[in-house]
Amino acid sequence: MKVKLLLCCCIGFTLIVLASRASDFMGWTSHTTALERFSDSRKGYSIVMNTWKRYDLLKQSISHYSRCPRLDSIHIVWSEPSPPSDSLRKFLDHIVHLNTRDGRQVELKYDINKEDSLNNRFKEIKDLRTDAVFSIDDDVIFPCSSVEFAFDVWQSASDTMVGFVPRMHRIDPVCLNLYIFSSFRESDKNHYIYGGWWSVWWTGTYSMVLSKAAFFHKKYLSLYTNEMPASIKEFITRTGLHLLHVHLNCEDIAMSFLVANATGAPPIWVEGKIFEIGSTGISTLGGHTEKRTNCVDRFVAGFGRMPLVPTSVKAVDSRNIWFW
Ligand SMILES: *[C@@H]1O[C@H](CO)[C@@H](O)[C@H](O)[C@H]1NC(C)=O
Repeated sequence: MKVKLLLCCCIGFTLIVLASRASDFMGWTSHTTALERFSDSRKGYSIVMNTWKRYDLLKQSISHYSRCPRLDSIHIVWSEPSPPSDSLRKFLDHIVHLNTRDGRQVELKYDINKEDSLNNRFKEIKDLRTDAVFSIDDDVIFPCSSVEFAFDVWQSASDTMVGFVPRMHRIDPVCLNLYIFSSFRESDKNHYIYGGWWSVWWTGTYSMVLSKAAFFHKKYLSLYTNEMPASIKEFITRTGLHLLHVHLNCEDIAMSFLVANATGAPPIWVEGKIFEIGSTGISTLGGHTEKRTNCVDRFVAGFGRMPLVPTSVKAVDSRNIWFW
């Protein structure tokens, strides 16, 4: 009798252990349990896409991003003199409908602006359903897996800007010498230089991520609209015209300043595959760095200090790394 009782106990115990393991395992694989940790507004993200008279690119990007699983809505920032044509609207609605037949609902909205200003892309959106905004240009494509990974990173640090394109600032060495040899105390009187792709590659350090492909909290849209110094907004409207589709603009630097000023922390650079479908290649042309440097100096003056914080952290999907 005793042996049988003991055996029963053993079997019972084993079953309980197995059952708890199994439920653990189920919890792991099922996607919904992971999502239920977040409230509704944290479940998905909204795309805010800046576009300008390149309908083929717009169609291509909308068609691509509307397939991403956790996308909630797409807001197209429209600053052209004439509103989007009926045929374009029909076409885009049709694409989104085709790509969301798996029961998801992706809303497609146009935020139509009268004035052509690059500040429009950060205008407050009143009816945004998600906290997360994915700000993207119409001419860059990231695979949905990269976008969703960046979204995961953002959920761990939702005050921070999380993006794919890092840039840096550094102190102008000429002025630094001045600083050392003249006991020049105020560090904010430094001049800064904008560092592009090469500088980030060379130093492994960055202090901005560009809003051509970045996640941030929607509260920064209202902060930008309501709190950004007027001098900076005017500067951006004045210098950032859509000439020749060339981006001699600085609104992305301004956004980095705004978030860094609010958080006192650096952004997060996320690994991701980038496909440029528009190929203007302007950033390699002469004059670009000087213009961006000028913007950085302007914004330091506008904020009264340099808010950007350098870092060398890069977020990488650990499933893609083989060796630790
Ligand atoms: C920058 O930060 C300071 C200090 O926290 C704050 O007073 C100021 O309003 C911020 N500026 C903007 C434009 O948000």
